[in-house]
Amino acid sequence: MSQRASRQAMIVAGVMSGTSADGINVALVRVGDAQGSRERSGTASDSRGRGRPRHIIKLLGHAEYSYPAKVRAAVLAAMNATRASVADLARLNFLLGELYADAVLATQRQFRVRADLVGCHGQTLYHQGEAQGFLGRNVAATWQTGESAVIAARVGVPVVSDFRPADMAAGGKGAPLVPYLDYLLFRNAKIGRIVQNIGGIANLTVIPAGAHASDVFAFDTGPGNMVIDAVTDALFGRAFDRGGKIAASGKVLESVVGAMLRSKFFRAKPPKTAGREEFGREFVREFLRRCGRARKQDVVATATALTARSIADAVRRFVISKSGSPTKNSFREIASATIQLPGPRSLILSGGGARNATLVRMLGEQLAPLGVKLRFSDEFGLPSEAKEAVAFAVLAYETWNRRPSNLPSATGAKRGAVLGKISYA
Ligand SMILES: Nc1ncnc2c1ncn2[C@@H]1O[C@H](COP(=O)(O)OP(=O)(O)O)[C@@H](O)[C@H]1O
Ligand SMILES: [Mg+2]
Repeated sequence: MSQRASRQAMIVAGVMSGTSADGINVALVRVGDAQGSRERSGTASDSRGRGRPRHIIKLLGHAEYSYPAKVRAAVLAAMNATRASVADLARLNFLLGELYADAVLATQRQFRVRADLVGCHGQTLYHQGEAQGFLGRNVAATWQTGESAVIAARVGVPVVSDFRPADMAAGGKGAPLVPYLDYLLFRNAKIGRIVQNIGGIANLTVIPAGAHASDVFAFDTGPGNMVIDAVTDALFGRAFDRGGKIAASGKVLESVVGAMLRSKFFRAKPPKTAGREEFGREFVREFLRRCGRARKQDVVATATALTARSIADAVRRFVISKSGSPTKNSFREIASATIQLPGPRSLILSGGGARNATLVRMLGEQLAPLGVKLRFSDEFGLPSEAKEAVAFAVLAYETWNRRPSNLPSATGAKRGAVLGKISYA
């Protein structure tokens, strides 16, 4: 392996905008290969990830920019649309490119750092990880918008974008991709870790103690902030429940939580992915119907409890099994077995939901009986809200170096794939 030229460290701007459609996160990250240390079999490489490099990943700065209200409304409308104007979607693509470029340029100015490369996730308008019949063929499909040619032209450096299709073309669901970073950052020889992100959707990555890349698995647990945001908007006219204050003043309607948790998504075994398709308008309408004439703050408290309970249930049912032996955690075996995460274990929280104190309290209460210690990604030097942006900086770095960065055990892909497309400045 040593004949390979050592890679220059680069500064990469990772740009993320998630399903919450709250705005844009930019992380400026120094990424490089650690000197002379390609991992050897038996440490963290394996049949699929043989010779994966060790990485240097250093966060230099992070900033967050809200979408202007009109843009947020347009993005949400496009996501939920059964019909949309093609002209508007084309214009939205170019407009988002301008906004992403502005966000990168502003972050560079703020931290007096210039990026050599941009990795931009884009705004997901549609994601269907499973193939379904369409016009006589079975196809899976995904669409992240935000024109990278515009970003490259404005920022003046190459841009890697559109990360998901290559994994799908290789047979994967195109998600989740962040577990690659989770694995690089949080693997531990002795401690089994669950890395839980609470964005619009909540997803977790399981990294058993001493895991190889192929032992990592991941799935969506259900709504993160999506339902909380929707009911807070509907009942209080606010985009989200800041600090979880409204939820803290309400009482949880346990019967509603129980009823919603019986829906198909929660019962399905991993691997599974969710989006607005599962927890958007329809789901919220059903949720509100079940809440009936409850007090407004009780409805928000109940939505918050639903997220906490669905995460804890997923951990209990699909990550920790009380009986049974540790399983080889291959993607396909997860469908028929639960995984034991023995011994000391912790759950590391990230995403905007980590700032909702009521949600965090509820989650802590649910996890304590499972012997899972709640921690924050901030404790590991990675601000909760920056993690996904850092992930796309690291993925872009891998692509720039023509290296695969999907985890087939997490996405279900048949092989590793070099992710994304490159736009040159
Ligand atoms: N201070 C806060 N208090 C409560 N919730 C917050 C706070 N800040 C962010 N959030 C929640 O986090 C969401 C955004 O989280 P984020 O990780 O950016 O999700 P996504 O990846 O889906 O964009 C917001 O919509 C909101 O619900
Ligand atoms: Mg966001």
